[in-house]
Amino acid sequence: MIKQYSVGVIGATGMVGQRFVTLMENHPWFRLTALAASSRSAGKTYAEAVKDRWALDTPMPEEAGKFVVLDAQADTEKLASMVDFCFCAVDMKKEDIRALEEKYAKLECPIVSNNSAHRWTDDVPMVIPEINAHHIAIIDAQRKRLGTRRGFIAVKSNCSLQSYVPALHPLKKYGLEKVLVCTYQAISGAGKTFAHWPEMVDNCIPYIGGEEEKSEREPLKLWGRMEGGKIVKAEGPSITAQCFRVACQDGHMAAVFMKFLDGKAPSMDAIKADWAAFRGPAQDLELPSAPKQFLHYFEEPDRPQTRLDRNLEHGMAVSIGRLRPDTQYDYKFVCLSHNTLRGAAGGAVLLAELLCAKGYMD
Ligand SMILES: NC(=O)c1ccc[n+]([C@@H]2O[C@H](COP(=O)([O-])OP(=O)(O)OC[C@H]3O[C@@H](n4cnc5c(N)ncnc54)[C@H](OP(=O)(O)O)[C@@H]3O)[C@@H](O)[C@H]2O)c1
Repeated sequence: MIKQYSVGVIGATGMVGQRFVTLMENHPWFRLTALAASSRSAGKTYAEAVKDRWALDTPMPEEAGKFVVLDAQADTEKLASMVDFCFCAVDMKKEDIRALEEKYAKLECPIVSNNSAHRWTDDVPMVIPEINAHHIAIIDAQRKRLGTRRGFIAVKSNCSLQSYVPALHPLKKYGLEKVLVCTYQAISGAGKTFAHWPEMVDNCIPYIGGEEEKSEREPLKLWGRMEGGKIVKAEGPSITAQCFRVACQDGHMAAVFMKFLDGKAPSMDAIKADWAAFRGPAQDLELPSAPKQFLHYFEEPDRPQTRLDRNLEHGMAVSIGRLRPDTQYDYKFVCLSHNTLRGAAGGAVLLAELLCAKGYMD
């Protein structure tokens, strides 16, 4: 029998924070006990602090609306004393986020983070539970460095790569040499709705600051190995990326081209069979937020589509389609994942479930 954990959300008023708050409602293991944001929101009830910023289709959970929002920077000790661990998704300077997350970890409050600030800290695991769950063992080294008994930081990867890394992962065994990817990313990825970003209606912006570097580099940490208390990034495959902001509310799509080492390209049937069979520790451990089938392949030529498929398996599955040979690479395909669910809050909740199941939150 899994125990119940008291959970806080730092950055609760934001786009990702709102997702966390809704995902905690009726969660079988987690119970929301504290919400925090900036000093602008602190002291107000959550309902007051969010007011006309509520961005989700589902209504704000009634209980959460009554919480008085804490100041994430001024009330650290109070917040840490109210929870077993916190999720964190804040819009602040990177160095301030790094310091804030470390402060909570040193107060023995584990942090499961959506922020990019600690993704390249050597002993901070960056985890997609189906792909590199074993990286959480690096937490022992991190706790030694921080001098903590239970406090640590674990992070999830960027939302842009959440569809194509899972699709490529089961194909690495064939000798994947290089990948070209173009992403078509929804506006909620910037914490926005169309009401707050009218310039995005009927528009496409071919630039998202820092996103292409993250899309190219972060997969190599996910595929990296543990060595001497550090995660050392993988050498390949080499990835090149272009990231576009498109006029969709939710759901990041990716057009992917892949080339295998000479003579190693598998058949299309073998690739589809690998996708259908793929499961990881999230499924084996039957974590509450894990999709039953992680990768769904659509045979229809016009799928996946953002509006039709982003919510597959509560927004936690990845949809793939249009696998076909390419004239320059071996194959090309399209894939999609929900950026604020699997790509952000949902992915972090799944990571927290993994950490609980493996005893890191006790
Ligand atoms: N949106 C996505 O799809 C997505 C996906 C993956 C990762 N992320 C990452 O998640 C983080 C949050 O993104 P978002 O889209 O949710 O942003 P957002 O909607 O702009 O929300 C930002 C949150 O940060 C809080 N905040 C700002 N300054 C603060 C301060 N000085 N101290 C404490 N809290 C402060 C805000 O509180 P107030 O309301 O009080 O200002 C708000 O709760 C970012 O690091 C982002 O890169 C987002």
